[in-house]
Amino acid sequence: ARVRHYRWKVKWEYKSPDCYKKLIITVNGRTPGPTIVAEEGDTILVELEDNLLTENLAIHWHGIRQIGTPWFDGAEGVTQCPILPGETFKYRFVVDRAGTYVYHAHYGMQRVAGLYGLIRVSPRHPEPFSYDHDRSIILNDWYHKSTSEQAIGLSSIPFVWVGEPQSLLIQGKGMFDCSKVTELGVCNTSNPECSPHVQTVVPGQTYRLRIASLTSLSALSFQIEGHDMTVVEADGNYVEPFVVQNLFIYSGETYSVLVKADQDPSRNYWISTNVVTRNRTTPTGLAIFNYYPNHPRRSPPTSPPPAPAWDDVESRLKQSFAIKAHQGHIIKPPPTSDRVIVFLNTQNTINGYRLWSVNNVSFNLPLTPYLIALKKNITDAFDQSPPPDGYDFLNYDIYSVANNSNAKSSNGIYSLQFNTTVDIILQNANTMNKNNSETHPWHLHGHNFWVLGYGKGKFDMYNDPRKYNLVNPIMKNTVAMHPYGWTALRFRADNPGAWAFHCHIEYHFYMGMGVVFEEGIERVGNLPSSIMGCGQTNTFHRH
Ligand code: C2O
Ligand code: CU
Repeated sequence: ARVRHYRWKVKWEYKSPDCYKKLIITVNGRTPGPTIVAEEGDTILVELEDNLLTENLAIHWHGIRQIGTPWFDGAEGVTQCPILPGETFKYRFVVDRAGTYVYHAHYGMQRVAGLYGLIRVSPRHPEPFSYDHDRSIILNDWYHKSTSEQAIGLSSIPFVWVGEPQSLLIQGKGMFDCSKVTELGVCNTSNPECSPHVQTVVPGQTYRLRIASLTSLSALSFQIEGHDMTVVEADGNYVEPFVVQNLFIYSGETYSVLVKADQDPSRNYWISTNVVTRNRTTPTGLAIFNYYPNHPRRSPPTSPPPAPAWDDVESRLKQSFAIKAHQGHIIKPPPTSDRVIVFLNTQNTINGYRLWSVNNVSFNLPLTPYLIALKKNITDAFDQSPPPDGYDFLNYDIYSVANNSNAKSSNGIYSLQFNTTVDIILQNANTMNKNNSETHPWHLHGHNFWVLGYGKGKFDMYNDPRKYNLVNPIMKNTVAMHPYGWTALRFRADNPGAWAFHCHIEYHFYMGMGVVFEEGIERVGNLPSSIMGCGQTNTFHRH
């Protein structure tokens, strides 16, 4: 195993990812940032310099479990104090499993500003599929409003929603219609920074395409005009292969698909992405699937494939059900669990602020990160009363606008008994708008979980667990909860540390849609002093 050493400088810069010029956060001058390329078992060392001048920073290594290094998970407020402007912070961790992962800012809403990238870990053993080339694409949605304007709007009375994104980016590139912009010099469609991404392929060859979504809000569909895609990997886990024309992908998810360049080689094809689950106003995101030796900039002669209907929940559910563990790579879940926690997801108003809640508790971060508070026994750092394991199951009507009378804000967390098996039932409900329920991709830090099932309506404690897939469930780190539906997960609380579990929609987590789990703190090793420096941790920093 090797050590892979990266030196990154993070700063604000004017860039035009979709031809519209605005301030964005770059890593070494780029967005998406550099790809981390490693082999299973390698150690990654990232020396991260915060050059944002006036802003803190933290980076999360999404999908990496941080076994033995929970303090380098990068979740500001959970596992570390923020990195201060001018400071250099060293993240050091092992990538113990092959697969496709991502990294992104985990401080405030900085991810929205463009700080994200890919982590590609190659295996030391043969994989259950083969291909000629390994390529990757990160999908994102893109806003023209500044990140702070968005954040302040969300935390204002009256509430100012961010709205739908202006563009969809494929590998950091999109194309905004500059005729809608009147200011001079702000939008320029001939700027090379927004020339469409090109994926060149050699006719007859098979490509492994790693696709990751780091959208702020949107769920996406992804298509390659005229080409089938065989899904083979999800969040670093091998999938029993199945074919799609259209891949649905939620924020925080990664997939590998195999694509064969087996179409008419005399032309190029569209790669396209569209918003689903929300009534879209954002134009299709486009890139070029370039058959060598056609000119890479030559536009395909056809129009992009039609987008799936935004409100077609059935097709998305169908894909969710289709994702099973590869038959040669099944890790069986424990047959039973030690604890079942039901998370009712609702939208609320608390003291006039629009927030999201889980079991009527809207989450907020304490000043002293949990991991440090727990390890150092600082008992007044956060609310010591844990949030509830469920809600008023019998009486709650998930189809009506929430009755928010008892919602509250808290930074209390869930303590899990070390080495136990925990079931999580994510229960969706109506938002504060009539006849509306959204899709939420939930992401768990520090673990993979088994996806035991999905269902429509209210979870039935008695009958639904009998339908769980205990035979070949996929393991993931991010999973969708569909509108008015539930999703059931199981995981082993076997990774000492404090771990965030939250909706990966940046705005929703910011508005309180998350929880924190804690397990096996007594087994956590000595905390590095580099994670200290905020809240009540100052005293430790100086020693
Ligand atoms: Cu990719 Cu806590 O998130
Ligand atoms: Cu959400």
